[in-house]
Amino acid sequence: MADEMLSIRDLEVRVDDKPILQGVNLQVGAGEVHAIMGPNGSGKSTLAYLLAGHPGYQASRGEVRYRGEDLLSMSVEQRAAAGVFLAFQYPVEIPGVSNIQFLKSALNSLRKQRGEPELDAIEFLDSVKAKVRQMQMEEALLYRGVNEGFSGGEKKSNEVLQLLVLEPTLAILDETDSGLDIDALKRVAAGINAYRRADRSLVLVTHYQRLLDYIEPDFVHVLQGGRISRSGGPELARELEREGYVPATGAQAPFEIRETHGSAHPQGPPEGREGGDE
Ligand SMILES: Nc1ncnc2c1ncn2[C@@H]1O[C@H](COP(=O)(O)OP(=O)(O)OP(=O)(O)O)[C@@H](O)[C@H]1O
Ligand SMILES: [Mg+2]
Repeated sequence: MADEMLSIRDLEVRVDDKPILQGVNLQVGAGEVHAIMGPNGSGKSTLAYLLAGHPGYQASRGEVRYRGEDLLSMSVEQRAAAGVFLAFQYPVEIPGVSNIQFLKSALNSLRKQRGEPELDAIEFLDSVKAKVRQMQMEEALLYRGVNEGFSGGEKKSNEVLQLLVLEPTLAILDETDSGLDIDALKRVAAGINAYRRADRSLVLVTHYQRLLDYIEPDFVHVLQGGRISRSGGPELARELEREGYVPATGAQAPFEIRETHGSAHPQGPPEGREGGDE
């Protein structure tokens, strides 16, 4: 079995006293790619925020270990220095700080905390520009405020650029594929694949099987009803794409949207099916 990278046990997270995560268990080994899928509002971003150390999200139960250490007792800076990286579903803009300045100071502060020497300015610039070309991004984006006025797709590419520059050990990418055109999706996927290594792990939150056509996951999990309700291999994502999520509560959807000659109509209970859905 692969060395353990991330171990989440019986994790409960409440937001405004409402339990969002209610006993999540997840083990991620070194070199593995795990995709987390699940309905809107099921807590995928909540899990990502908690792992990143966002102050608004605290565990009320359970534990999270990162390479054997108690992740939840580490500060945001300690997590970053230890190699944990989160790409947000909605990347933050930092007006007034250029992208290149941001990358340089983030990388140098990581290196400093690891006891490595700061990179020489020219060396740094050459290496970042090579990565910008790899991502087929406009070089001008390096000199604009971080994500300031970036298009949705440019922000997502920029997240992957950060990933390639900072080279974390554990990356959690929250919907890095959303809003990308098909070519951008391929570039983002190629960037993420370039990051993959036997000693690095990836947790990909996504709604779409499409991303997983380009980034083959080792495991696919469904977060639903506050827990990982199902786990499987890549075929699980394909099944979900075809069949959707079975409601966690067993409740029936009030109506079904069906496409009929290009228009969608609310419908009554589906007709002509045998035996029910379960
Ligand atoms: N800061 C907050 N204040 C209030 N409610 C919150 C907060 N953060 C999360 N929640 C609630 O927690 C639930 C889970 O939200 P979360 O963003 O984790 O879902 P998600 O699985 O990422 O959904 P999506 O697929 O739409 O991105 C939602 O009902 C959300 O409204
Ligand atoms: Mg989310």
